[in-house]
Amino acid sequence: MQIIFETPRLYLRRFTDADASLVFYLNSYQEVVEYVHEPVHTCVEFSRNILFEHILPQYALYNLGRLAVYVKENEEFIGWCGLKFRAELNEIDLGYRYIPSSWGKGFATEAAKHTLDYGFSKLQLSEIIGRAHVDNKASLSVLKKIGMTYLRNEVVDHCPVETYHSINPNV
Ligand SMILES: CC(C)(COP(=O)(O)OP(=O)(O)OC[C@H]1O[C@@H](n2cnc3c(N)ncnc32)[C@H](O)[C@@H]1OP(=O)(O)O)[C@@H](O)C(=O)NCCC(=O)NCCS
Repeated sequence: MQIIFETPRLYLRRFTDADASLVFYLNSYQEVVEYVHEPVHTCVEFSRNILFEHILPQYALYNLGRLAVYVKENEEFIGWCGLKFRAELNEIDLGYRYIPSSWGKGFATEAAKHTLDYGFSKLQLSEIIGRAHVDNKASLSVLKKIGMTYLRNEVVDHCPVETYHSINPNV
């Protein structure tokens, strides 16, 4: 298991090619995909394709990616958080999604804050973008709480979003 970093209550590890069932479990909740412009996963083969086509390649190509998030106390998998290089936009974005039973405990904020810190201090990134659907108040709240700065409203992937960013103070 390749743990990338820990926070006070969580650890984040890379997904492996054996994790299709985790991707399926997370994305089988309607509430999880409500604002992300993706379908609910109804078959594990679909999740496997997402894992192999969208999650795993980022590690090898860019040395970053979405990471599986676990609660240290009970080793529970609760979702993912991490960075993604979006070639079509030439930017690195911060993303996250969690199973509903874990919401409202500050886990998303804790993991996102440490992901920003990791991106700046370890990966030496110069800028990280964060976006959320204009109606996704919880996600917008996370972006604000971790100190990202509002840039603009725009339409990305056919969704109306608020776009935020953070600049690496040391690069
Ligand atoms: C967005 C998401 C990650 C937030 O997870 P979470 O565990 O609730 O996040 P946190 O507990 O760290 O913080 C959420 C904050 O949003 C606030 N919030 C939640 N729902 C809200 C709402 N409807 N209106 C306003 N604020 C809201 C909470 O009060 C909390 O702020 P606080 O700590 O100041 O009280 C979670 O809802 C999720 O996984 N959603 C599905 C996937 C998704 O939309 N991902 C983001 C795509 S951009």
